[in-house]
Amino acid sequence: MKKRKNILKIAIDSPAAAGAGTLAKSISRYYNLFYLDTGKIYRYIAYLKIKFPKKFNQKFIRSKIKSIKMKDLSKNSLLSDEVGTVASIISKSKTTRKIVHSFQLDYAYNPPKKFKGSCLDGRDITYKIIPDADIKLFITANIKTRAMRRYKELRELNKKISYKEVLKSIKKRDKSDLNRKISPLRKTKDSLLINTTNLTKRSCFLKIKKIIDKKLSINGNI
Ligand code: C5P
Repeated sequence: MKKRKNILKIAIDSPAAAGAGTLAKSISRYYNLFYLDTGKIYRYIAYLKIKFPKKFNQKFIRSKIKSIKMKDLSKNSLLSDEVGTVASIISKSKTTRKIVHSFQLDYAYNPPKKFKGSCLDGRDITYKIIPDADIKLFITANIKTRAMRRYKELRELNKKISYKEVLKSIKKRDKSDLNRKISPLRKTKDSLLINTTNLTKRSCFLKIKKIIDKKLSINGNI
C-alpha cells in the first residue's frame, strides 16, 4: 500500500458515546485532518443486513464497501440504536473486519491530498489500524453519562427510545466490544487516557490540542 509521508496520524479508541466523535471532529477541523468515524462503516454494514437480509453475505458486503461514498456514512438511518446493536454483532466477524480493515488503512495512510493527515476513531484503531499513530487516545466516560449523551442525541433525531433502553443497550455493547475474540476494545499502554465525564467539549479539545501542539513542536517535519 502506498503511504503518504510526513502526515499527522491520530488514532482514537473508545467505548460507545464517550465523546470521541465530537472530539475527533473538532481536532480534525482544527488541524485539517481527514476524519473517519470507523463505527459508521460497521453501522453501514449493519444497516445493509437489516435492509437486505436475503442478499446479505460476504460478497455483498465486499461490493458495497468497494463502492461506498462518504455520504453513505453520514445518513441519519445509521444512528439508530438498532443499527448500533447489529453493528456490534456483525463486527465480530473476522471476514467482515478484514474487508473494513483495508478500507480504513487506505484513509489512515493515504488521506486525500488536501488534508495534512488523518484522524480515525473506533475500537481497534490504536493497535490494529494505525499502530504507528503520532497521537493515540483512549476516550472514556462513566456509563450513565454516556447513556445520557446518547439518549439526548437519539431524542434530537426523533428516535423513540427511553433512557433505560439506551443504558441497557450501551452496557450490552460494551460487554460485547470488550470481550470479543477479534479486535476487542482495549487501551494500549501508549494511549493517553481521557475521561470526559466532567469535561466540557471545549476543555477536552484544549487538553488534546496541547498534546498535539507539543508533539508538532518536537516533530516539526509532520
Ligand atoms: O462507534 P459506534 O458506536 O458507532 O460503533 C458501532 C459498533 O461498531 C461498535 O459497538 C463496535 O462493535 C463496532 N466497531 C468496531 N470497530 C471499530 C468501530 C466500531 O468493532 N473500529
